[in-house]
Amino acid sequence: MAQNWSPASWQQHEARQQPVYADKAALDAATQELASYPTLIEPADARKLKAAIADAQAGRAFVLQGGDCAESFAEFSPANIDASFRLIMDMAGIMAARSGLPIVKIGRMAGQFAKPRSTEIEQKQGAGLPAYRGDIVNGIAFEEGSRAPDPARMFRAYAQAYATLARLGDLAEAEGADLYTSHEALLLPWEQALTRPEAEGAGRIYGTSAHLLWIGDRTRFPGSAHVEFARGLANPIGIKCGPSLDQATLVTLLDTLNPAREPGRITLISRMGAGRIGEALPPLLRAVRQEGHPILWSCDPMHGNTIKAANGYKTRPFGTILDEIRAFFEICAAEGAHPGGVHVEMTGQNVTECTGGAVPVTEQNLADRYHTHCDPRLNPGQALELAHLVADIMPRRKSQAA
Ligand code: PEP
Ligand code: CO
Repeated sequence: MAQNWSPASWQQHEARQQPVYADKAALDAATQELASYPTLIEPADARKLKAAIADAQAGRAFVLQGGDCAESFAEFSPANIDASFRLIMDMAGIMAARSGLPIVKIGRMAGQFAKPRSTEIEQKQGAGLPAYRGDIVNGIAFEEGSRAPDPARMFRAYAQAYATLARLGDLAEAEGADLYTSHEALLLPWEQALTRPEAEGAGRIYGTSAHLLWIGDRTRFPGSAHVEFARGLANPIGIKCGPSLDQATLVTLLDTLNPAREPGRITLISRMGAGRIGEALPPLLRAVRQEGHPILWSCDPMHGNTIKAANGYKTRPFGTILDEIRAFFEICAAEGAHPGGVHVEMTGQNVTECTGGAVPVTEQNLADRYHTHCDPRLNPGQALELAHLVADIMPRRKSQAA
């Protein structure tokens, strides 16, 4: 096990993006109860995913990670779960057919509830209330009662994640496919409550809220409580890499999170923006190569390309999203790095949140079906179009040696 680490050691570090719960006793009671609940995922499956990511690093597979920016209690229904599952499978099918590679499928599902925000307090019409931090923390309605962080929401999140996993398990079994789950490990009291020692393990401890947990771009700074928490978990770990990440910080992160240089342990998710990836990504690829750290490089073409439309909607132009994907594969090729995955925000519902696409969503259409609780997602048409582009430019299966 990692030295001087415990599931609670993050509490001695700087934890950003955490809600302030008014009733500390209620928070402690909730997390203590959750700590006695069954795991959401099995450690053995997290281990399997780590091996699959190691395969993708070696060019024998490719990772597709996708789903909602924020799952919500309001959008929870079997129809929505089925539609997002279908979309992931269809995207994977397109990519597998062209490349000949197995696609490792990871949903941003069954636990993607907590969101980092750019402001603590949201101002509206002269009033200030705590920012919405995801349904596991507080409600999206701009009302005092709704915005107060409530630990009881963790139980509803647990129930929804459990039911979503059950449904996904049935769908995956019927399909004969594997689908793993992932989310940003942001809400640390919740994540700590769901850590468990491996049943027959060598003292390894797993985060059992999802197979893969990632650290967001806002919480991967040096000294971060989120990095400290992830350090001791045996799960595969993702790190979002935005334009402010420098080489030295990245190397320190990798040495901290993967001192044994275990293959499959770290996925670096580049989210630079189409306009900045050309200058921001190459230094990171070089630093990783120089240090010899085993990494799965993945591209999130969503989070660096968010703009505000003239009518006030937060959106992402689909053309810009595709530009970042193309740039990612070109830069990896130029730098001798292996591009092994993509990470997208999408939904199986026919929403109008990102502009553009073959059947274009216009700025005027955004209001029609804009349902996201956080960032704008691709609709199925856009997601499949993206899958075709990725299929065209992603690595191919190496022909078997004769
Ligand atoms: C996200 O994935 O929804 C997110 C907040 O990403 P990032 O940390 O890259 O900004
Ligand atoms: Co998002």
